[in-house]
Amino acid sequence: MTIDNSVLKKMHNDLKNIVDTAFNDFSATYPAFHNFNQFLDAAKETDTVLFGKHCIDIGCGSGRPHSIASLLYLSGAASVLGIDIVLPDNHEDSASMALMTVLGAVLNHEHMGFERIGVSKDHVMSKLADFDLSRLLSLELEGAIPSVILQKKCFYQDLEESEKKFDIGVSHQVFEHIEHIGELLVELRANISNNGRIFAGIDYRDHRMYVDSSHGPWDYLFDDDGWQINKIRHTEMMRIITDSGFDVHISSVDRQHLPPDCFDRLLPKYRDLSSDDIEILSSRVMLLPARGSGSGSILKTGQDAFG
Ligand SMILES: C[S@@+](CC[C@H](N)C(=O)[O-])C[C@H]1O[C@@H](n2cnc3c(N)ncnc32)[C@H](O)[C@@H]1O
Repeated sequence: MTIDNSVLKKMHNDLKNIVDTAFNDFSATYPAFHNFNQFLDAAKETDTVLFGKHCIDIGCGSGRPHSIASLLYLSGAASVLGIDIVLPDNHEDSASMALMTVLGAVLNHEHMGFERIGVSKDHVMSKLADFDLSRLLSLELEGAIPSVILQKKCFYQDLEESEKKFDIGVSHQVFEHIEHIGELLVELRANISNNGRIFAGIDYRDHRMYVDSSHGPWDYLFDDDGWQINKIRHTEMMRIITDSGFDVHISSVDRQHLPPDCFDRLLPKYRDLSSDDIEILSSRVMLLPARGSGSGSILKTGQDAFG
């Protein structure tokens, strides 16, 4: 396939703009770069490396299921299994998202900051060669993605025993959707390698705000009508994680004061929440298997996590 130079130049500029806007903004139309940036920060803080590691993307999503997997692969992962209970039927959309991800990452290598986990530009370029860009440009997915990037539509618990084993897990905006998150975490703890890690980005906001701008992040604390989420606040989520046998490194949190005139709107059952649990709207955590079989603990808090 030959592509006109002016088309390539425009594509390059568009991709630079996408990465520039998406890198720091979760609400951007293409948040994968933002999510990966947060993963790299947490990975650096916890000396996490990806070279040769078997990765799993828990809840890889129906919108861009190959994105995080492709970025992990470019960073040296030996394999990435994405699982989700909903996967897309439209492979053209997935191919276009995968293309945007790998080209965006490579063209913006300095901005991506792969070197935070010791990955050089040469390494990323050599891994890019494993993607069939010509097929992706034709929006063909089959044969375009390295065969070690796989997806399965299932619950983690339903994977074959051999597929459950992993070194590095990532899970962006998924823990808050899982009703029995403790049960999943216990199973993950049983299958993670000794020096493994799980990165989780957790969003405690009322998710109605993402589809209806009349809603705000605390709304279910006022009406208990939260939507598609398990309503577990930060402290309780950390307790469930440590009880499941993980130590937790809190990389960062987003927090916001509840406007004073909203305090009276809190339902009685939420009035005793600590200020952390009201104000922390999202967190990025790296989970490390606690030594022994007991509970884990909060290891360390990233510099910008609180305050
Ligand atoms: C907010 S989306 C995030 C998707 C993706 N991680 C991303 O950042 O684009 C939450 C995803 O979690 C998936 N999900 C919910 N419960 C799940 C479970 N028990 N196991 C696997 N995936 C689940 C949903 O199907 C959905 O795709």
